[in-house]
Amino acid sequence: MTKKIWLSLAHMSGREQDFIKEAFDTNWVVPLGPNVNGFEADLEKYIGQDKHIVALSAGTAALHLALVMLGVKAGDEVICQSFTFAASANPITYLGATPVFVDSECDTWNMDPELLEKAIVDRKAQTGKYPKAIIPVHLYGMPAKMDEIMAIANRYGIPVLEDAAEAQGSKYKGQHCGTFGEYGVLSFNGNKMITTSGGGALITPTQEAKQRAMFYATQARENAPHYQHEEIGYNYRMSNICAGIGRGQMYVLDEHVARRRQIHTLYTELLKDVDGVTIMQRPSDEYDSNYWLTCIIVDPEKAGFTREDLRLKMDEEQIETRPLWKPMHLQPVFADAPMYVNGVSEALFNNGLCLPSGPMCTDEDIIRVAKVIINYK
Ligand SMILES: Cc1ncc(COP(=O)(O)O)c(C=O)c1O
Repeated sequence: MTKKIWLSLAHMSGREQDFIKEAFDTNWVVPLGPNVNGFEADLEKYIGQDKHIVALSAGTAALHLALVMLGVKAGDEVICQSFTFAASANPITYLGATPVFVDSECDTWNMDPELLEKAIVDRKAQTGKYPKAIIPVHLYGMPAKMDEIMAIANRYGIPVLEDAAEAQGSKYKGQHCGTFGEYGVLSFNGNKMITTSGGGALITPTQEAKQRAMFYATQARENAPHYQHEEIGYNYRMSNICAGIGRGQMYVLDEHVARRRQIHTLYTELLKDVDGVTIMQRPSDEYDSNYWLTCIIVDPEKAGFTREDLRLKMDEEQIETRPLWKPMHLQPVFADAPMYVNGVSEALFNNGLCLPSGPMCTDEDIIRVAKVIINYK
């Protein structure tokens, strides 16, 4: 039987079970404990920049808490990159706020700084208020144009919340993605750079902010012997078992980043002569992508097939691929949201495909995928 090649499978270091066993042996089977503290310390060491990190039950929970911490309330607007997974935008609506979608530029496929500024100015003109926060995303691991985005955000005094769910290990000008804005978010979902089976983290600027995030993540319980609540809280802490997986995964994070980059290089080499198929490349070496997923764009005129033709062919060949994210401004659920668009993300969605890129993929797997493209008839 033909081996199925998956888009992005998890890969274990082998150390995970030791941390889990320790949790069981010491009866720390709760959403706090030595693995949670240890995992946070490992992440802080890895990210640097004097950041303070809170381990949570999901990246989505981290985005939600960050918006709470930024004071987003019902009736506010929050600017969000349109070209992303719905998890970047959904938490805005949990708070009764409205997402304002901003399209991408062609270099990194992330938030277009020019459109961002246009959106800020226009929202102020239309509503009398500036948006409460800006959520750029480092999609597929490619760093967004953070210098430009931060300069605009600072000019209008709007805090930035970076969605680095797909970008652990990616750097922009030598600095980790997720550390430029006031807050940053990581995801440890099963298909990400490392996994805790499900989980995420909030990167915060200070120890006080970390304490505050932990407070909200544990039902906003006040410091009293009884259960005293003066604010609404959430149950978002990471379990000590999941954090054990995370600690084990930290041993292979660098290896995973290196492997995904190698896979991207291999695809680039193998597909260099295929007419009408272009692989997403970083605009310059200032953008140090982890290449979470290698993405291609198909030009149907030149290639003689569409993205969808290719996806179906891959499916026949037992290869999992996925269209690029459908932009949020085209999603029925966000039909009423304000949007500032330029056609870039729509074109990427129409013609783009993610190729298998996980650390479990062998060179032979990548060659098999490339051959389907090269030999497409
Ligand atoms: C861009 C982006 N943002 C947010 C998330 C949400 O992370 P999680 O699945 O950990 O909630 C994901 C992945 O799932 C993602 O790809």
